[in-house]
Amino acid sequence: MLNKNNIPRHIAIIMDGNGRWAKERGFSRIIGHRQGAKRLKEIVQSASETGIEVVTFFAFSAENWNRPKQEINLLMRYLSNFLDKEIRQFDKNNIRFLAIGRKAPLPEPILEKISMAEEKTKNNKGLTVVLALNYGARQEIVDAAKRFANSVVSGKVNEDSLDIEGFGRYLYTANLPDPDLLIRTSGEMRLSNFLLWQLSYAELYFVKKYWPDFTHQDFKEAILEYQKRERRFGGISEA
Ligand code: IPE
Ligand code: IPE
Ligand code: MG
Repeated sequence: MLNKNNIPRHIAIIMDGNGRWAKERGFSRIIGHRQGAKRLKEIVQSASETGIEVVTFFAFSAENWNRPKQEINLLMRYLSNFLDKEIRQFDKNNIRFLAIGRKAPLPEPILEKISMAEEKTKNNKGLTVVLALNYGARQEIVDAAKRFANSVVSGKVNEDSLDIEGFGRYLYTANLPDPDLLIRTSGEMRLSNFLLWQLSYAELYFVKKYWPDFTHQDFKEAILEYQKRERRFGGISEA
């Protein structure tokens, strides 16, 4: 049973292994992405029921443009379908939707759907679902530094006023709590340029299963494991 008093506020998920899942079954990689999209919906529901405040999914990295054009095009099509179909459902369930990442060079119709989805759900007070799209953490930090520099040049702020918390407000994730738990599926144990700043003190959880096999139960087990960890933030045990 989950301890209701120790639920992570924010869970970040690297949904990895769609391609391998499909290849091992003799399918093309894109079948894995289709299955992966179903899992995403299920985990959104689990997160919502568990009382988590924010769940961030890594859907497309700034480096994923290195993939074959055909795979990218199909991924964009799935994304577009997802935005068409799921946003109404999110809204019904009081879910707020946000996207993080650089806009260019995402296709214009997708950018429009993202803004509409953000606008439609902006006052919802339940779970916040964040989709990281064309997202790279180093790019995010550079963008934040540029925005801060612009504020200094235009005289809005003084450079000496910058502190860690203040810098966080220039990131794409401004106003969101830092993730408490990071889950990565598929057995890879790396961050792949995901939320480098925000994950500083997150608990890391790596699971062998590919994302298309990741279920409600696996999600719950990740949270149970999180609840066994002692987060010290550089301090010492209280016992
Ligand atoms: C994750 O699965 C989904 C995206 C990166 C879009 P992959 O497509 O990376 O699948 P593997 O890691 O190659 O198996
Ligand atoms: C990270 O997975 C990006 C997403 C899950 C969207 P990748 O499959 O792109 O990462 P690497 O290439 O294995 O590091
Ligand atoms: Mg991968």
